[in-house]
Amino acid sequence: MAEQVVDVIGLMDPNRYALKETLEELIAFLDLHIRLDGKEHRVQTRRLKSRPYDTLHTETPYRAILNRGAHWNPHHNSYLSIIAPETYLLNDMVSFFAVDKNTSYGQMAKLGIRIPPTVAIPQQDYSELKNDPKVTPDLMFEDFEMFDLTECGDVVGFPAFLKPQSGGGWVGVVKVNSHEELVDAYNKSGDKPMNLQKAIDYREFVRTVGVGPQMLPMHYNAAAELSHDRYLRAPNRAVEHFFLSKTEFDEVTRITRVINAFYNWDHNSCESLIDHGGLIHPIDFANAYPDSSPVSLHYYFPGLVKAMTRWLIFVAVSQRKKPRFGHDWDEYFAVRDEADATGMSYQERLSRYNEIALRHFAAAEFEAFCAEHLPDFDEQAYDFFGSDKFTSILETEVRYYFKIPQEQPAKVEHYLGIHNFWLHCELARINPQSVRVRAVCSSLSVQPSQLLCSSVLFMLSPPARDSASERVKQARALLLDPLLW
Ligand SMILES: Nc1ncnc2c1ncn2[C@@H]1O[C@H](COP(=O)(O)OP(=O)(O)OP(=O)(O)O)[C@@H](O)[C@H]1O
Ligand SMILES: [Mg+2]
Repeated sequence: MAEQVVDVIGLMDPNRYALKETLEELIAFLDLHIRLDGKEHRVQTRRLKSRPYDTLHTETPYRAILNRGAHWNPHHNSYLSIIAPETYLLNDMVSFFAVDKNTSYGQMAKLGIRIPPTVAIPQQDYSELKNDPKVTPDLMFEDFEMFDLTECGDVVGFPAFLKPQSGGGWVGVVKVNSHEELVDAYNKSGDKPMNLQKAIDYREFVRTVGVGPQMLPMHYNAAAELSHDRYLRAPNRAVEHFFLSKTEFDEVTRITRVINAFYNWDHNSCESLIDHGGLIHPIDFANAYPDSSPVSLHYYFPGLVKAMTRWLIFVAVSQRKKPRFGHDWDEYFAVRDEADATGMSYQERLSRYNEIALRHFAAAEFEAFCAEHLPDFDEQAYDFFGSDKFTSILETEVRYYFKIPQEQPAKVEHYLGIHNFWLHCELARINPQSVRVRAVCSSLSVQPSQLLCSSVLFMLSPPARDSASERVKQARALLLDPLLW
């Protein structure tokens, strides 16, 4: 009999409920017995608990760790960095803290990626520094150069966004339309170094989230008032599948995969804006702790959990170690130099970077592992997401988020409705001929592929009838791509 080993996946996601709970329950539900290297691997999850530890004698029982606690529980950060070489950290502190938004703009521009004109501007307010008794202002400020904000505005052009060089949640982000508005916004910006970035006039906002090599582009509605509504296609419409052309799809997923691989970010999102001429501009891609709540991601949440589950199982069971930060940068710069010297097209350049990124994430090994060891994963995950267990997780999360009791029943119904729709689409994807799919389709008078390819309303209202067969075919091809969710 093969030796049995237990591969433990550690989970840390303080102040959040659904992600860790769903991962735990799904992995338990899978009840894995994976045969690899002459051993039988069982996979278990365990939560990382906050407690004192002996700094000089750290040990880890974990083969992989999902870490989403750097902000909420910094006590763990050094522990995780100490044990990093002995496990696989999904979200590591080295890459996370080393790279802010401004750094990533500059470095990706060096690779030739189409970043909007951006100027970095020193902080406006130094009062804290001036009041520090250890500071001698004459010495401190001798090396500071006066600058002309008007010139910054001229370089970038208007309208533009003034935003912190490092940050999130739209904090301190202001749109400015003129020099006067820029001066006004800058004077209020406080003690954070800022970026002034040209505003892109766009027709589509795409947020692509990646887990390892797997990518999912989602439409994003920045105009929605409430942040949890921003992944809805419209106020009464949950999702629109295949809202991108194949070329756009390839470009946003490649850009995200390249950025994520370059920075060792195995769970990160990239915001890209498609302008009216079809050019794609990434505007924010240092989000190495992207939003992972079903309250905002709704339809996309099961896909995220599935992608994360596959990736965690792969790295834990195959004992993969995370590559060192920056170890393959020379390869990217070699491609960059070749591309500059030969006048390579933008798409070709991205495709060459993408090859490095796929190797970085061991995409071929990952696919082979999933095919061999998780052959029924989609079906099992489908059963799990259709179970009362998941319904109860979703309901609990919704009740945590929407705290007003009178509001809760309608909100629960809203999210269960979208989830129900996901279940139908997922079944149509994995088993278009099933009796269930045929029954749903006949009640709606649609084909199984239309469940996936059309704009859809909540609660399974009939989809629009305009899905041309070419689009359907393209959509199905994309759906079968193993690196997509
Ligand atoms: N160059 C730009 N062109 C057009 N819109 C922009 C640009 N930069 C920022 N915005 C708008 O401002 C919003 C917030 O900017 P940004 O994403 O850079 O900040 P953030 O604090 O990181 O936000 P989040 O945490 O949601 O990612 C964007 O979602 C977008 O709507
Ligand atoms: Mg952003």
